[in-house]
Amino acid sequence: MKLLFSTAPLFPLALFIGCNSAPAAEEHDNSPFDDGFIRLSELEDKNPEDDVVEVSLVASVSPLEIIEGVSHDQFTYNGSVPGPLIRAQRGDTLVVHLKNELPQGTTIHWHGIRVPNGMDGVPGMTQEVVEPGEEFRYEFELLDASTFWYHPHFQTLEQVGNGLYGAVLVEDPDEEPALGKETVLAISDLSVFEDGTIQEHPHTDERRAAGREGATLLVNGHQNQRMRVKSGERLRFRVLNMARSRYLELKLDGHEFLRIGSDGGRMEAPILEATTSLVPGERVDIIFEPTGEPGTHLDLVTLPVDRGPGASTAEGPELLVRFEFVEGPSPSQVELPSLRRELELFSTSNAEEVDITLTMGAADGKLVMGINHVPWSESDPFQAIFGQPQIWNIINASAYAHPFHLHGFYFQVLDSDGNLEWPLSYKDTINVEPLQTLRLVPRFDEDRLGMWMFHCHILDHAESGMMGVLHLSDGSELPE
Ligand code: C2O
Ligand code: CU
Repeated sequence: MKLLFSTAPLFPLALFIGCNSAPAAEEHDNSPFDDGFIRLSELEDKNPEDDVVEVSLVASVSPLEIIEGVSHDQFTYNGSVPGPLIRAQRGDTLVVHLKNELPQGTTIHWHGIRVPNGMDGVPGMTQEVVEPGEEFRYEFELLDASTFWYHPHFQTLEQVGNGLYGAVLVEDPDEEPALGKETVLAISDLSVFEDGTIQEHPHTDERRAAGREGATLLVNGHQNQRMRVKSGERLRFRVLNMARSRYLELKLDGHEFLRIGSDGGRMEAPILEATTSLVPGERVDIIFEPTGEPGTHLDLVTLPVDRGPGASTAEGPELLVRFEFVEGPSPSQVELPSLRRELELFSTSNAEEVDITLTMGAADGKLVMGINHVPWSESDPFQAIFGQPQIWNIINASAYAHPFHLHGFYFQVLDSDGNLEWPLSYKDTINVEPLQTLRLVPRFDEDRLGMWMFHCHILDHAESGMMGVLHLSDGSELPE
């Protein structure tokens, strides 16, 4: 299903070798024109200090218009779905004032960000629930440049499933220029009735086993997005899958994507892909140059993905963004830089092997999901000691695919020979196919001791018990 390397690159060669006619970088026309695409609104930084970004988020019930002309009440951050984009630079300190105006408690989890344990947003474990009317201050340093996201970790199925999520873009101040016009694509789904109200899916075991998807596919909260482009214009899309269950498989006919980054920022080297896949929670950073005659259009779609029995709702490709080609000279491209990044190899020396089996079964005639056959509510923490490497064998013992997510730390993947997969990347969320075993190497870094969750990011599965906890300690408090 995943195509990592293409045999026949369609990607313009000029991208790699540069054109003879390439102008000097300073002539490069990067001036944005109104392209008709609806971008995420951005939070204003209220802190005058250079290296502090301070913003406010209000979680509340607000009227929202998903279908034009009909509004209904919806869980939102600052009145929108998705919530506003938080933009910062690597090395900045991010301060977020959360105010809870929901009729129920909430928290914020910073998906993919290496936060201190007390900032991880897991109620009853890393912080208390932020009750209605209360506030909470999140503050941490942004150690990595990448695309991340924020969402509650309380009543997650309900709160995230119904619209509480937003993106965090942490820029790299040292990044090479000319990577293309950058756009954040926050992809999610809801099921909206004709009258604008949100549809509740039946809460049956079958539907939960499959993982309920929303029928209305949204890009930055809008259906059927359009973007006017000049043929050959270089685009850089930073894509997030914030959907409750839906897998994405991005495709642009006749083109390939140059994938340069994943969850934890830029990869060791870019790879060309005919399609790019993103499971719930995952992010990618891709570069491509759509080409076409003025007046024609080209559709960026997501292809249907089979996640298991009864788990695929889409019957054909679904539109994400329609590129409409406009008159005008093709923008002259400067050569892409080499796009290499030096990444750390996560240590496997004397690693302890840990089996984490993703299980689905029935108890008393009811669906129970778990880790090693133990549902979340009955589970004991897994133990790890700072400085002692582990290899996690993620064993999918079920007929469904699961997006496995670890809080707080990145991992790398071992190939079938036991070597770290090329190109190296920093991952926090990864797909595990039915009956597949993935061998992951987490890096327990920065001495961030405490309790950290890992779970399936299909919200129905997590709620049904497919979650576990890692207790990272310095070893001193462990019984002999
Ligand atoms: Cu986005 Cu516990 O995860
Ligand atoms: Cu799952």
